[in-house]
Amino acid sequence: MEQYRIEKNGLTPEIYENLRAQVPLQHYDRADVIEALKHTLFSVVIWEGQVPIGIGRVVGDGRIVFFIKDVVVEPSKQNCGIGRMIMEELMQYIRKNGCRNAYVGLMALTGKEDFYKKFGFRVRPYDGQGSGMTQLINRDELM
Ligand SMILES: CC(C)(COP(=O)(O)OP(=O)(O)OC[C@H]1O[C@@H](n2cnc3c(N)ncnc32)[C@H](O)[C@@H]1OP(=O)(O)O)[C@@H](O)C(=O)NCCC(=O)NCCS
Repeated sequence: MEQYRIEKNGLTPEIYENLRAQVPLQHYDRADVIEALKHTLFSVVIWEGQVPIGIGRVVGDGRIVFFIKDVVVEPSKQNCGIGRMIMEELMQYIRKNGCRNAYVGLMALTGKEDFYKKFGFRVRPYDGQGSGMTQLINRDELM
C-alpha cells in the first residue's frame, strides 16, 4: 500500500463530487456540498500520486454520536484494500474521540453490508435494537 498516501481532513468539494460521480450515488448541488463539508468532523482522502482515488468522512457531535458517510473508492481501484484503509482511518478517529458507549452508525448500500461487517458493524435489528430508519427529504416539499 506504499503507493498510496492518506490525507486527513483534506476533502474538497471537487474531490467529493468527482469520486461520487463515478459510483451509483446521488448528486448534490455544489452549494450544498460546500456547506456539508464545512461540518465534517473528520475526512480521509487516499491519493495515488496526484490522483484522489478514495474518500470517506465522519459527521456527528464528536463525542457521543458519529455517522460514517461517503465511503467511495474509484471503480478501477476497488478490491485492492483502499476501502479498508479508509474505514480503518475513520474508525481510528472515532475510537480516539468517542466517549464510552459512543454510538456509530452508517447506512450501507445494497450488497455492501458485508464490507462494513468487517469493521464491527451489525445489520439491525439485533439484540433488542430495532431497525435503522431513514427518509430522504424532498426539497420541493420543504418550500
Ligand atoms: C464499498 C467500497 C468502498 C469498498 O471498497 P474497496 O476498496 O473495494 O474494499 P477493499 O478492497 O478495501 O475491501 C476490504 C475488505 O472488504 C471486502 N469487501 C469489499 N467489498 C465488499 C462487498 N461488497 N461485500 C463483501 N465484502 C466486501 C474485501 O473482500 C476485503 O476483505 P478482506 O480485507 O478481509 O480481504 C467500494 O466498493 C465502493 O466505493 N463502492 C461504490 C461506492 C459505495 O457503494 N460506497 C458505499 C456506500 S454505503
